[in-house]
Amino acid sequence: MSGFVVWFTGLSGAGKTTIANIVEPELERRGLVVDHLDGDIVRTHLSKGLGFSKEDRDTNIARIGWVASRLARAGAAVVVSAISPYEEARRHARMLVEQHAPFVEVHVATPLEECARRDPKGLYAAAFAGEIEDFTGVSAPYEEPSDPELRLDTTGRLPSECAAEVIERLEELNLLPVREEVS
Ligand code: ADX
Repeated sequence: MSGFVVWFTGLSGAGKTTIANIVEPELERRGLVVDHLDGDIVRTHLSKGLGFSKEDRDTNIARIGWVASRLARAGAAVVVSAISPYEEARRHARMLVEQHAPFVEVHVATPLEECARRDPKGLYAAAFAGEIEDFTGVSAPYEEPSDPELRLDTTGRLPSECAAEVIERLEELNLLPVREEVS
């Protein structure tokens, strides 16, 4: 089975990590070698010290894209969850990956109002109070993907339903091993 990258992009609090955390074990259950590159985690290791200026975010996404392309080339199913707000940086990551493997962009398109209502880390409250600079959707841009392989609005839906939709899309794209029917 050859590798691929499923890349979740969307606002902070949109549900990228939550959905990716369900998709990852499901891919493993299907016998794939899987890795998950999550923005918050990458920023404690590979991208430690980077901030949230456009330049630093582009560097972060370029690093994630490069690692993802290497892993996919080696046969892994790579799950990425990162805001990745800039179209050009996502396009570059896609280009790197597609030299070796399919790239599946999933726009977790939860509206800003819903992300701010959820505010799981309390960051929107701080951003609206002017306490965080360059906060995506508030004081920094989020450029919506124009043509993602899948667009999900998570409002009013369970994470498990959203994850199932991702798996279905991967099946449609023939990226998953066919499951044997239990007779
Ligand atoms: S990205 O823009 O470079 O793709 P990444 O996904 O790695 O971002 O990191 C986003 C996480 O950093 C958010 O989930 C949030 O917890 C935290 N964060 C801290 N400051 C900011 C900010 N100014 N804008 C967005 N996220 C921030």
